[in-house]
Amino acid sequence: MTEKKKLYIETYGCQMNFSDSEIVASVLADTYSTTTEIEKADLVFINTCSIRDNAEDRIWKRLVQLGYMKRKRKDLKIGILGCMAERLKDKLLQQGTAVDLVVGPDAYRSLPDLLKEVGSGHHAINVILSEEETYAEISPVRYDSNGVSAFISIMRGCQNFCSYCVVPYTRGKERSRDPQTIVNEAAELFNAGYREVTLLGQNVNSYRWCEKDAQVDFPKLIEKVALINPQLRVRFATSHPKDLSDDLLWVIAKYNNICKSIHLPVQSGSSRMLAKMNRKYTREWYLDRIAAIKKTVPDASISTDIIAGFCSETEEDHQDTLSLMEYVNYDFAYMFKYSERPDTAAAKRYPDDVSEVEKSRRLQEIIDLQSKLSLSRNKLDVGKTFEVLVEGFSKRSEEHLSGRTSQGKVVVFPKENAKIGDYVNVTVYDCTGGTLKGKIV
Ligand code: 5AD
Ligand code: SF4
Repeated sequence: MTEKKKLYIETYGCQMNFSDSEIVASVLADTYSTTTEIEKADLVFINTCSIRDNAEDRIWKRLVQLGYMKRKRKDLKIGILGCMAERLKDKLLQQGTAVDLVVGPDAYRSLPDLLKEVGSGHHAINVILSEEETYAEISPVRYDSNGVSAFISIMRGCQNFCSYCVVPYTRGKERSRDPQTIVNEAAELFNAGYREVTLLGQNVNSYRWCEKDAQVDFPKLIEKVALINPQLRVRFATSHPKDLSDDLLWVIAKYNNICKSIHLPVQSGSSRMLAKMNRKYTREWYLDRIAAIKKTVPDASISTDIIAGFCSETEEDHQDTLSLMEYVNYDFAYMFKYSERPDTAAAKRYPDDVSEVEKSRRLQEIIDLQSKLSLSRNKLDVGKTFEVLVEGFSKRSEEHLSGRTSQGKVVVFPKENAKIGDYVNVTVYDCTGGTLKGKIV
């Protein structure tokens, strides 16, 4: 048998991209094995993100570095995958870039053929979006895994068309994956020793699979996965507030192994901004969903995404965001400055008219408030005991382990006799805004 060539994949952006990189490794597994050392690679893939301008900037800079590397190693091949491949297509193959191959998110099955075309000055490109592709039966190669937690992609694309967002253009129409293939993948992971799966989709609440007279929606799907084994934790991301159903909350409450952690991106606390963002809900609707979570799953952690300085945002709109944050009392948030993306509805219709200075000031106020809320939420955990799934060693020392509670909070504790992949009960005695400190009991 000839030795396989080496593939190095660098992934930027969201969890979906990490999941896609595992699919890519699987598609090429006959001829390439993955390496963690770029110097040893025959093929380098950059799996890219277009969500904000600074994400793309980083990748252009990285391409310059790879260009230097390629000048020294003429046989090295470089491919761009993901959302930037879709959005920038030809620009990436223009003279002067080091790129040999450009492949969009729905075209990964064509990679073996495209690679045959590449070489001696020939480029290859496939950015055709599909209405069906879900990579349903491809078994991802978990090449950068802790052996405990894994992502499972349950649907692809998005057609919500939030006015600021590039995703519907780069990832195409929404489509759900056959539930049986999802359950099989989760069961195989469990049998291989994994203890946590995260079901991924741009908007998991609109997961829907119809076969003959039977329909599987997201609450039914998550229940099927939870029933594989009570020792398998199930997480999911991301939910859209407009269709977070009571059914889903009841299922979360019913199964101990469905994690009590709900990520519900609000984007803004102002109904005027939400309408302009085409989010399809108001502040009141969002707060009603938060009340439903607090009632049905009272021990759930709640996290969110927030955009500061969207088109025409006033100080009053910004104050609405801050007051909503206080009201919900988020455990955690991802917070961003609005970044105009070419060709989106917002770019076409609304001027990007909040100054950079103002955006920065508002973002900083949002970050400062969230730091305060996270710390106060974590302080409530001090003195309590949580079931923690051990996921790895702590960053600081091999004498300490790190894992997460059902709520998704990171806990660090002395390792004693515990191993990665074990469930342990940990009593929390101290915390920061980002981490709980505890001891196995
Ligand atoms: N500018 C800033 N943030 C954005 N997001 C999506 N598009 C943009 C944009 N143009 C944020 C949203 C989304 C998260 C994944 O990224 O908060 O929920
Ligand atoms: Fe973008 Fe909105 Fe779809 Fe999320 S739901 S990916 S923010 S369009």
